[in-house]
Amino acid sequence: MYKHVTTLTEFVVASERKQKEATGSFTLLLTHIENAAKIIASHVKRSGLADILGKTGTTNAYDEEVQKLDEFSDKLLFDMLSDSGQIGYLGSEEKEDVLCVNKKGKYNVFFDPLDGSSNIDVNINIGTIFSIYHNDGDVLREGRVQVGAGYVLYGPSVMFVYSSGAGVNGFTLDPSIGSFLLSHENIIVPQNKNYYSINDGNYELFENSMKEYLTSIKKEEKPYQSRYVGSMVADVHRTLLKGGIFMNPSNKKRPDGKLRLLFEVNPFAYLMEQAGGSAVSGKISPLDIKPQSLTQRTPIVMGSKNEVKKYLTFI
Ligand code: AHG
Ligand code: MN
Ligand code: MN
Repeated sequence: MYKHVTTLTEFVVASERKQKEATGSFTLLLTHIENAAKIIASHVKRSGLADILGKTGTTNAYDEEVQKLDEFSDKLLFDMLSDSGQIGYLGSEEKEDVLCVNKKGKYNVFFDPLDGSSNIDVNINIGTIFSIYHNDGDVLREGRVQVGAGYVLYGPSVMFVYSSGAGVNGFTLDPSIGSFLLSHENIIVPQNKNYYSINDGNYELFENSMKEYLTSIKKEEKPYQSRYVGSMVADVHRTLLKGGIFMNPSNKKRPDGKLRLLFEVNPFAYLMEQAGGSAVSGKISPLDIKPQSLTQRTPIVMGSKNEVKKYLTFI
């Protein structure tokens, strides 16, 4: 029997309509990101074939030039977003400077074209992260003023998860019709969950407060369970759905942690708050940090509200 489904496009149009001054340009912007995501997804799916069909830097069996997936995704997002007609400035984790598309364009977008890229070669989940601002001429603005953010997860199925300030919704790609369908309506992070997600290999380099916290959660009556993929998109996606705590803290080698404020931390901190969870850099929300540079990194702890609260009692 036919069951009514909502596509991502229908959903975005309906959400934008609820806003008084809607012009349709946000919908157009998201549609370009959605289309880029579908193209990246189709390439991710074939990534393991590069070795037999042709190596990077060469031409493959179809006489196409083989590009590294992260370079390909980066270029595709630049091209498709520039063509959307909605862009002021674009920033990518792969580039040192922002690109001015049109000084007067309506939106600025920051993206991590392929997050978790060390996992590509081993066929483990990777993703694309994006963060959207109104263009007011200043590209380095606090994450708090984002007008939308989201990610695409290339996993067993492909998911598009985003928020434009009214909760978080997730869509799963139906490959048979090529559309993202609403599958995870109004995602709310569970308030508690004994999952922790951190690169434990850096333990000796962590600050004492972090070591004490980690020791403590392992000694609880119901010890915390470790879950770590090493792709932020996958680790935070699991945290959004199942709860727990995700951490990329400062360590002796990386005092500011590894993750980038504009491309990774802010979009996820925004989504986490929109889903009822929390995110902290030190004791404050990363969303309140005024970025000093495009490539700025910041330590981050995020996830279930009560898990973050518990962590904060250690610092
Ligand atoms: P990217 O592939 O975009 O450079 O990002 C990788 C990031 C992030 O996805 C992940 O959470 C983190 O690196 C993992 O860091 P460790 O290897 O230090 O665990
Ligand atoms: Mn990344
Ligand atoms: Mn990346």
